[in-house]
Amino acid sequence: MGKLEGKVALITGGARGMGKSHVRHLVAQGARVVFGDVLDDAGNAVAAKLSSESARYVHQDVTSEDDWAAAVATTLETFGRLDVLVNNAGVLRHAKIADMSPAEFRRVLEINVVGSWLGIRAVIDPMIAAGGGSIINISSIEGFTGAAGLSAYSASKFAIRGITKSAAQELGQHGIRVNSIHPGGIMTPMAMEAAQTMTDVDGASFLKAMPIPRFGEPVEVSRLVAFLASDESSYSTGSEFIADGGILSGPGY
Ligand SMILES: NC(=O)c1ccc[n+]([C@@H]2O[C@H](COP(=O)([O-])OP(=O)(O)OC[C@H]3O[C@@H](n4cnc5c(N)ncnc54)[C@H](O)[C@@H]3O)[C@@H](O)[C@H]2O)c1
Repeated sequence: MGKLEGKVALITGGARGMGKSHVRHLVAQGARVVFGDVLDDAGNAVAAKLSSESARYVHQDVTSEDDWAAAVATTLETFGRLDVLVNNAGVLRHAKIADMSPAEFRRVLEINVVGSWLGIRAVIDPMIAAGGGSIINISSIEGFTGAAGLSAYSASKFAIRGITKSAAQELGQHGIRVNSIHPGGIMTPMAMEAAQTMTDVDGASFLKAMPIPRFGEPVEVSRLVAFLASDESSYSTGSEFIADGGILSGPGY
């Protein structure tokens, strides 16, 4: 028996990168999963490799309240309950403040922050009906530190930490736990795209200075997602879980 047997999860941004890994890993642990994204071809391809009894793809833009209502309704119609939300969808725009338009800044906050907040709002009633639940918000190491060119991204990831703690305070009385995960250095399409624009960063020296001197695999974060989704983490809420190869432990002089 997997540790998530009987649980039903809704995962955003599941068509590629870490979200795709979370979908597969949670299904492997016994969960039934509905996952959304705006990349429909990629999302349908992920679903095609999984049993329709355990996974279903839906088109979902996390900035749309209607899409949230539809994704939650599909989850309840398909699998009868909702126990876990993984707010994973996110975007990174790399540009110095002087070079970034206000519209670009607002767009990052709209997807990463408002999208996650709308998700929490949309699952409260079904989770209360299920007798409790676990909400997992994907922040970043940039939720603890800034970086040149990442003002919008870092602001959004700090905000997710704050929302996580407020939601934990509000929802604990209903048996709903809310935690944040802070990955760093995970090899995904987002990381590869960022590496192409951050040409002033010396990747080899960066890696060498890390306590675990390698990039992380998406599944190394998925295992943390499964832990927080499961009853094994029953006494953790409002907390931060880091998977970054030790980047945040210090500058590695
Ligand atoms: N890769 C890393 O090292 C790293 C580090 C820290 C945090 N993160 C965070 O992890 C999460 C997943 O990132 P990833 O690296 O897998 O990136 P990714 O770009 O590979 O995947 C992100 C997914 O989110 C989807 N998405 C974007 N906008 C959306 C929207 N409006 N509605 C629904 N889906 C949308 C994308 O289509 C994509 O499938 C993000 O929140 C990211 O900020 C990544």
